[in-house]
Amino acid sequence: MIVNHQTPTPEISQKLAQLRLTVQRASYAYYVLDDPIMEDGVYDRLYRELQELENQYPELISPDSPTQRVGEKPAAQFQSVTHNIPLYSLENAFNMAELQAWDEKWRRFLGDSLPQDPKYICELKIDGSAIALTYHNGILVRGVTRGDGVTGEDITQNVKTIRSIPLKLHLDNPPPVVEVRGEAFLSNHIFVQINQERQQTGEPLFANPRNAAAGTLRQLDSRIVADRRLDFFAYTLHLDSPNLHDHWDCLELLQKMGFKVNPNRQLCQSLLEVQQYLETWETQRRELPYMTDGVVVKLNSLSLQKQLGETRKFPRWAIALKYPAEELPTKIISVTFQVGRTGALTPVAELEPVQLAGTTVKRATLHNQDRLTELDLHIGDTVIVRKAGEIIPEVVRVLPDLRPTGAKLVTMSTHCPECGETVIKTPAEAVTRCINSSCPAIVRGSIIHWCQRPALDINGIGEKLVQQLVDAQLVRSVADLYHLNMDQLVALERQGQKSAQKILEAIAASKKQPWH
Ligand code: IVH
Repeated sequence: MIVNHQTPTPEISQKLAQLRLTVQRASYAYYVLDDPIMEDGVYDRLYRELQELENQYPELISPDSPTQRVGEKPAAQFQSVTHNIPLYSLENAFNMAELQAWDEKWRRFLGDSLPQDPKYICELKIDGSAIALTYHNGILVRGVTRGDGVTGEDITQNVKTIRSIPLKLHLDNPPPVVEVRGEAFLSNHIFVQINQERQQTGEPLFANPRNAAAGTLRQLDSRIVADRRLDFFAYTLHLDSPNLHDHWDCLELLQKMGFKVNPNRQLCQSLLEVQQYLETWETQRRELPYMTDGVVVKLNSLSLQKQLGETRKFPRWAIALKYPAEELPTKIISVTFQVGRTGALTPVAELEPVQLAGTTVKRATLHNQDRLTELDLHIGDTVIVRKAGEIIPEVVRVLPDLRPTGAKLVTMSTHCPECGETVIKTPAEAVTRCINSSCPAIVRGSIIHWCQRPALDINGIGEKLVQQLVDAQLVRSVADLYHLNMDQLVALERQGQKSAQKILEAIAASKKQPWH
């Protein structure tokens, strides 16, 4: 570092202030407004100029300078700190009936003091990690994780690396203390990129963007955090001001202060309008470059919010409506084709594993030829997979912008992967079929089908055993089961005398099943 021990002249101070402002404006336009005002190269040059000047006059470095976003060395550990105001969680609703129940509950709570026409604000529920920011006289002094809502970890240095968080509020006369809350998150393509890098370095993969965001925030080295490109949407402003009457005002003020506020918010006059918002975003959210896991419905009036207050855990004036299905981005490693009992071919996406609704998902159905055509799927594509309730995961859509160059288009197999015969698709149906009646997949499928409870109800014959029997060519149809003997069964891999006996007994017993 070059240190100049000359005292800075007023010209130098002024130049520095000017540079800082220009860099800060460019960064705001780029990261918050998503509307760049200068070329990357120009920005880099100005930034370097600022850095050099600050190196020469370290006494002029201010904590809100754009150069102060990344710390010079990793923190040893994070301090546990008490939140200025507790961070409440949100009560969940999973359907309209539960939303209705919430609406009745807060109305009942108010009793006679029910206002004339209370309004609701709907916001997207961003799937990231909540953080609390404190500004003193307009300068960011503290960033804290949610923790247990009462205490969290001081991650100020990491929070400063988030370019969409202002280091200094865009206010001429900032109030002495401002408390802002919001969600730090990672956009889908950055999540995929991070996991790709982790795979290459052999590090464990993040299950979803939320975990990746939370993990990143707790990274001790702020230089790594800066590389991860976290983003932030502000959604709560704690500020006592006679000019603030409702939540909508707060969101607008947050925006003026220099924060990114999610644009997809809506003021609703009735629960019916809320419902329409929910329905719109249940599908529209798929177009967003970040994950949302529901919608947050809040009462707009701040005095109403104050009147209702909080239970021990939740505010009474807000509720989260969670979407039933979980969706996540991941990548297509390959596509295989499965042959069912009727010979139907199902294309199956083999995925980079992701945690979805509590399970690890490695494969997802692509349904049929028509769906493949519709998706325009390529190997290596980043896709969104969804698990809705008990249904098998499916590929919902492709993110074509993230397609690697030269990626190969996925087409329906022309041959049966099991027997090699040519497959057939008639224009009348969506299904592509193998019509070889001795195709081992069809034989297996039909035997399994026959062994199930509504048919022959043969206990102990599962998929594994059928596969072994067909592979060993002991069985070509369900009738062949009745010719099996002890020696044949025991000769199969991992088949003991005892279980073989049980199987033979079950086959014999199945003869007593009624004909229908
Ligand atoms: S308001 C007291 N608004 O969801 C009200 N929360 O499940 C506090 N979240 O802890 C939260 N988007 O991390 C609010 N637009 C939004 C949100 C949001 C995401 C998160 C937040 C909260 C969690 C509750």
